[in-house]
Amino acid sequence: MTKELSTGIYALHSNLTDALYFEGFWSIPTGVTLNSYVVVGEKIALIDLCNDSTDSLSNIEKQLKEIGIAFSDIDYLILNHLESDHTGALSAFLAKNEKATICASAKGIALVKNFCKIDEEERFRVLTDLEQVSLGNNKTLQFFDTPNVHWPETIMTYEISSGTLFSCDGFGSYGKTGDKLLDTEFTEAELVAFEKEALRYYANIVASFSLFVTKAIEKLSSVSINIVAPSHGVVWTKDPMRIINLYKKFAGYNTKGPQEKKVCIICGSMYGNTKEMAHEAEKLVKAQSWDCEFLPIPETDVSYVLASALEAEGLIFAMPTYEYGIYPPMRYVFELFMKKHFYDKKILRIGSKGWVGGAEKEYKEICEKMRWNALPSVEWFGKPSTEDKNQLSKSVTHFLNLLENKE
Ligand code: FEO
Repeated sequence: MTKELSTGIYALHSNLTDALYFEGFWSIPTGVTLNSYVVVGEKIALIDLCNDSTDSLSNIEKQLKEIGIAFSDIDYLILNHLESDHTGALSAFLAKNEKATICASAKGIALVKNFCKIDEEERFRVLTDLEQVSLGNNKTLQFFDTPNVHWPETIMTYEISSGTLFSCDGFGSYGKTGDKLLDTEFTEAELVAFEKEALRYYANIVASFSLFVTKAIEKLSSVSINIVAPSHGVVWTKDPMRIINLYKKFAGYNTKGPQEKKVCIICGSMYGNTKEMAHEAEKLVKAQSWDCEFLPIPETDVSYVLASALEAEGLIFAMPTYEYGIYPPMRYVFELFMKKHFYDKKILRIGSKGWVGGAEKEYKEICEKMRWNALPSVEWFGKPSTEDKNQLSKSVTHFLNLLENKE
């Protein structure tokens, strides 16, 4: 399963298929793949320490053996990022290796001590921005501070002779790759499916840090990248700019870049009245040839709601009032949109008032905080009347005009 990316540079990976959730709550029905890399010069560096699902390293150990390397041979362990999916097996590694220098940014080394509870001070080496470490035999690693892609301590490692960027969480995706790993091993349809999972991964994990993603991409434009080797999912060897440009687009979705010409309808309904109107809205949107995705909640896992909403220019929230306030499953969606900084959307809300209303007040406060361009909501009591449907039709027309910049 070991893949040679370039002379002396190898990718190792583990497929997590039995984990139901990433970070404990993001659904991953397609699994996820964790990658580590080995760079062999006169010295040997292991970059990122991908765990298997039991936080052991047996899978990686087996793959190292395929290239004649044991854990005890590793001279440098480079930790680009300290989250547990890359470091949960650090103690297991140290039990098998007594000599490797543990390298990370200053914030990373602090986390090795405080977060991983490892205190072997004499083995730590703090890496500074743009610093280079020669491994001999024409292999040189250079380190780039790329904070908040995905935690503040994050760096990316670049091998100069081959132009390989070990980007850790950056440019990663959900989806297990199985025995394959390189873009050249997948069909175009499979790559497109990974790109879709990259969007969901981005919306769930990285979206709060879009400004940092953009900065990191700008910073990395100073070097020539031939291979993008992330720690999650496909390694991009044939067209490395494909995933970099995709991430650039993702980062723009919530930082004033272009969004997709798409309407995402997120619909929660207690007794079907709000759902009936949401489907009316869907018909009206589709009748105008707009790309439209209808996501019922709570049935749709919120990780998919985030992916669809992040890229869409227009959102329709269909939700009734629940106990004088926002319908709880939608409250959770709003909470995540706020956390992930889903700013600058064009919005329409529709929903039944229940017996007295109340959701609208809280909803307006959220719209203001999120800088959403929200049209007046369409609300009604109980079963929608013909007049309510006429109002909906006018509001959806107005909404589509707003999306088309006609008003
Ligand atoms: Fe793959 Fe932020 O850890």
